[in-house]
Amino acid sequence: MPTKTPNRAAPGGEEPPEPKPEIALEDLPGVGSTTADKLREAGYTDLMELAVASPGDVAEAAEIGTASAQKIIGEARRRADVGQFESGTTLLERRKKLGRITTNAKSLDELLGGGVETQAITEFAGEFGSGKTQLGHQIAVDVQLPVDQGGLSGEVVYIDTESTFRPERIVDMAKGVGLDPETALARIHVARAYNSNHQMLLVQKAQELAREKPIRLLVVDSLTAHFRAEYLGRGELAPRQQLLNKHLHELLRFGDAYNAAIIVTNQVSSRPDVLFGDPTRPIGGNIVAHASTYRVYLRKSKPPRRIARLIDSPNLPEGEAVFSLTTEGIRE
Ligand code: GTP
Ligand code: MG
Repeated sequence: MPTKTPNRAAPGGEEPPEPKPEIALEDLPGVGSTTADKLREAGYTDLMELAVASPGDVAEAAEIGTASAQKIIGEARRRADVGQFESGTTLLERRKKLGRITTNAKSLDELLGGGVETQAITEFAGEFGSGKTQLGHQIAVDVQLPVDQGGLSGEVVYIDTESTFRPERIVDMAKGVGLDPETALARIHVARAYNSNHQMLLVQKAQELAREKPIRLLVVDSLTAHFRAEYLGRGELAPRQQLLNKHLHELLRFGDAYNAAIIVTNQVSSRPDVLFGDPTRPIGGNIVAHASTYRVYLRKSKPPRRIARLIDSPNLPEGEAVFSLTTEGIRE
């Protein structure tokens, strides 16, 4: 099926930076294949991860002494470009290229400062049925629209961890905004993540795809479900948070490199200790709260309405927006 691929130069009129050739962990002195495998298993998949790791963590992960760990980290620092500074001018230039994607609901767009932003993580948190997955689908359609219609003429990577991606919904929503459904489906690259490790690996795979296609949106639905299911015990909280942190930073790096928007969804857990106010809280604690640039809390209202509340935003006022979940998708 021939599909029309938008011009590669679409992201802000600029090519994404050339990827650097990867250096394998095995190339580091003192790292054999067994150690390299152990490191990768623990989540240290590239030099940068090792370069910023602590000797204690690396020693434990690779089952080596702290002194050896220190040497490996030192070497990783020398080889990876750690401590690269960007000038304020470069940063400003990059910020100027920020793109925005409509959510198809005016009040929600306004709440977000004009739509979902690129080079940022937008987290949709809320209980079951609050509309997180529907928003992921809708924005995956909207990003394909031309800029003057609220899109970025872009394609999508959709990491589906709960098997809730529905092509039929994309067809409905594409029709709802006047896009050809077949083309819309062809521009959404869906991968099912079977566990948290696989989920993280898929972000690396997404980079390969982004070198060929104008990916302007990466959706992870749900960010936390696998992590929550796999790391259950009290003692596992620290490793879980560490991996989540790494995952979020890799997502943010993807957003920066390809001027793409990152959307993650997050369930909420109930807090039996809260007597007044909202007894629910997004999963993932401070790590997720800090890494998300925009955190939008969704709750159900009179059907088909949903209420979105923006919390902890660095540069936008807190506020609420009401939208509806309809057969054609998200509506004002
Ligand atoms: P969990 O993943 O379970 O945590 O929930 P979620 O926040 O992802 O909820 P989701 O986005 O799946 O919202 C489900 C709601 O969307 C349903 O209760 C419906 O109100 C609405 N919805 C889903 N599909 C359709 C549809 O085809 N037509 C209409 N009119 N509404 C739909
Ligand atoms: Mg869902």
